Amino acid sequence: MSEGAVKKEEKPRKFQAIRGTRDLLPPETALWNRVEQTAHTVFGTFGFGEIRSPIFEWTELFARSIGAGTDVVSKEMYVLGLQHDNPTDRDLAHRRETLMFMVVSSSDKSTIDMFTLQTRKFCSDYEAALGKELVYADIGTKVALEYLKDSISYLVEDLLAQTRAGDWQERFDRTVALCKQYLELVEPTIALRPESTASVCRAYIEHGMNSLPQPVKLYYLGPMFRRERPQKGRYRQFYQIGAEVLGGSDAPAIDAEVIEMVMTFFDRLDLQGVQLDINSIGDRNCRPKYIELLRAELLKVKDQLGPDSQRRIETNPLRVLDSKLESEQGIIATLPRIADHLCEDCATHYAAVKHQLKMRGVFFRENWRLVRGLDYYMRTTFEITAQGLGSQNAVCGGGRYDGLVELLGGPPTKGIGFAIGEDRLILSLQESGKAPAQQGRDVYIAWMGERAHATAIRAAKVLRKAGFSVELPPVEQKFGKALGQADKLGAKHALILGDNEVSEGLWTLKTLADGSQAKYTEPDLLEHLRKTM
Ligand code: HAM
Repeated sequence: MSEGAVKKEEKPRKFQAIRGTRDLLPPETALWNRVEQTAHTVFGTFGFGEIRSPIFEWTELFARSIGAGTDVVSKEMYVLGLQHDNPTDRDLAHRRETLMFMVVSSSDKSTIDMFTLQTRKFCSDYEAALGKELVYADIGTKVALEYLKDSISYLVEDLLAQTRAGDWQERFDRTVALCKQYLELVEPTIALRPESTASVCRAYIEHGMNSLPQPVKLYYLGPMFRRERPQKGRYRQFYQIGAEVLGGSDAPAIDAEVIEMVMTFFDRLDLQGVQLDINSIGDRNCRPKYIELLRAELLKVKDQLGPDSQRRIETNPLRVLDSKLESEQGIIATLPRIADHLCEDCATHYAAVKHQLKMRGVFFRENWRLVRGLDYYMRTTFEITAQGLGSQNAVCGGGRYDGLVELLGGPPTKGIGFAIGEDRLILSLQESGKAPAQQGRDVYIAWMGERAHATAIRAAKVLRKAGFSVELPPVEQKFGKALGQADKLGAKHALILGDNEVSEGLWTLKTLADGSQAKYTEPDLLEHLRKTM
């Protein structure tokens, strides 16, 4: 730049919250606090204690619990950079990070070529580096490399067979999910938690909670992360309030009590239009047989189904029951129902859960199409919807997951729980007018003069200690302006302190709603405010 030239002023970038995330602001946060306080209270009365677990965990924990092939794990998880400390491997670590990023972010066709190239290069580099010196991880690494190669061939083959359009996306997603799982063998990564059940089970094992009196009843509140398409009621950082019962028996009364607890919580909040749907999805004895039956029936009507459902016949026929496609509803209604194919144990358990719910006065609707999107469920599943939420109307989802703790390396353990979408709960409360109005101040202190300032500071202290919300302006204001400000802030009273008040020891209190005012000594003022508010 030549001397004297005026450098064009660059406007500083204006930052905005990242898509799918948002700020929660007052007065709305008051409602969030009320909801959370109610959860602490209600869950406490059912004997639950709070657990606070980290917001990130090993990626594999989620892959193993929720299922590597589920949407949550294969498409929506935020996988963070490597946790690699060995400087000699830094380069490889960097490549792997790039690859992981691509794997996680590629779900459209245009990135497949790039993904394939990167994966190939990664494989050959890694192999060359490890070829000389195979370390303890060699078995895992070899498996991973072999697998990656297979996956690439699979993808390439798919790309070549373009004629089978409509098929590639599902296969690609499945391959990516498996690649991710195998990459974990090479080196573990961490992920932002998409839910908390896996973390609670990990903590149960890690802290030997199986030696505590069973069952262990825990609840949690906090942010979860899923890279979903944002819309009303669906965010990428969202909040859950959840509870889990681990250990002890799988008595149907436990299922019913957990459901009763969440319904009590909703009732306490006066949530409107609450609808509880329940189902039993069987266990490892009866579900596989039902799935085969369902698959066979679906194959008979395959041409009448849309491409998504056609694909799911192979990958996960249960999810066809989830379909919202108008044209498929008639066909789905004719499909075999799991309730008619439960094994004796599951059928007995389901009947007892329903009986227990009735004993507790909990109204429910049986919904044989209620299959949940996470792999760990068995037997009881449930979902709760509420009003005012549009298409994302599920405000709570849960179910039984016996065997999950074992899958994570713990002892055989029964488990059941739920998670409430707090964002949706709040939305529904707001839509039905349950949100608190902006909270005004109780007292605005209008002061003038140095002596009055000292008295005002003391008055603020006394009033706050007594529990009143007080606004003490930091600089002197003319009384007219101060009263205007008090009005804008929605204050109920203005405490007027000038030279006269200080000399007399009598404070003037103006009630803003009717303009009336009177003088009080300090103790009388407190007494008066306590009575009127
Ligand atoms: P989930 O059905 O994946 O289950 O999520 C539970 C609830 O979290 C949903 O019903 C919904 O209200 C809310 N939710 C999920 N994703 C989003 C999002 N992107 N934006 C806003 N809200 C969302 C679970 O997470 C299981 N861990 C529940 C469980 C606990 N099962 C047994 N124990």
